[in-house]
Amino acid sequence: MASSQTQTHRYFIALLLLSAAFPPSSSSDDAKFAKSLIQFKQSLTNAAALDGWLEPAGASARLCSRNTPLWSGCICLNGSFVGLRLVGMGLGGAIDAEALAELPLYTFSVARNNFTGPMPDLGRLTRLRSLYLSDNGFRGEIRGDAFAGMRSVRKVVLAGNYFSGDIPASLVELPRLVDLRLQDNMFGGRLLEFRQANLTGNFSNNRLRGSIPAALSGLNATSFYG
Ligand SMILES: *[C@@H]1O[C@H](CO)[C@@H](O)[C@H](O)[C@H]1NC(C)=O
Ligand SMILES: *[C@@H]1O[C@H](CO)[C@@H](O)[C@H](O)[C@H]1NC(C)=O
Ligand SMILES: *[C@@H]1O[C@H](CO)[C@@H](O)[C@H](O)[C@H]1NC(C)=O
Ligand SMILES: *[C@@H]1O[C@H](CO)[C@@H](O)[C@H](O)[C@H]1NC(C)=O
Ligand SMILES: *[C@@H]1O[C@H](CO)[C@@H](O)[C@H](O)[C@H]1NC(C)=O
Repeated sequence: MASSQTQTHRYFIALLLLSAAFPPSSSSDDAKFAKSLIQFKQSLTNAAALDGWLEPAGASARLCSRNTPLWSGCICLNGSFVGLRLVGMGLGGAIDAEALAELPLYTFSVARNNFTGPMPDLGRLTRLRSLYLSDNGFRGEIRGDAFAGMRSVRKVVLAGNYFSGDIPASLVELPRLVDLRLQDNMFGGRLLEFRQANLTGNFSNNRLRGSIPAALSGLNATSFYG
């Protein structure tokens, strides 16, 4: 699909900016990551797309060959495993945040799957640059401090779920945040006083009230419809 290729391309460019920091990981790192990935897979349902994720024999596991993932859904950069992109795979069940916390995740995407229930506790994914939980069945309130540990995150996409309650206050404190997509949820209350320079986003189709904060007044009007 063309749009998914564009997306992949975008991840790649974003990750290239990090590449100097990534000499290839060793196969023993990969073996450790493989174990955590398999643990993560165990609580998923309908995970046929990840059938190729198999317990490696000994310490010989490799997840990446330069920029090419050897395990589906992995993102690789110069031989290092740097993220997961599990998009549109029909996945459901539970997201094992403990297993994810053992992985060097710069990108985590489970967009367009079949996850339900509250937002998983991803507070320990402190390296994240981009997080995509969009177009699932996640619901309920998100803790105010849910994003507090993600000091490097640039893009947060929660669009197309049933999230309700206040917009989590910790989003205001993220110094690198440039793109925040919350549209098509049930968030209530007021828009927060975002202070990040150059922040773009979409807040459309929620239950928000009040005026648009000055920092967001330059955004496209379609970002506030509904
Ligand atoms: C990839 O890793 C090698 C070996 O550590 C390093 O010399 C090279 O600069 C890295 N390339 C990129 C693009 O980061
Ligand atoms: C999503 O989950 C629901 C209930 O758990 C199930 O009935 C439905 O078939 C699932 N849809 C897909 C596309 O897997
Ligand atoms: C915001 O964008 C302007 C123009 O592109 C740029 O000069 C400035 O450095 C950016 N500020 C931050 C904090 O990224
Ligand atoms: C606002 O966004 C819509 C849809 O993405 C686009 O068609 C329109 O040109 C944009 N308007 C401005 C002023 O950027
Ligand atoms: C914001 O989201 C709404 C609802 O999904 C969409 O119609 C609109 O085009 C989006 N606007 C921008 C600027 O992304």
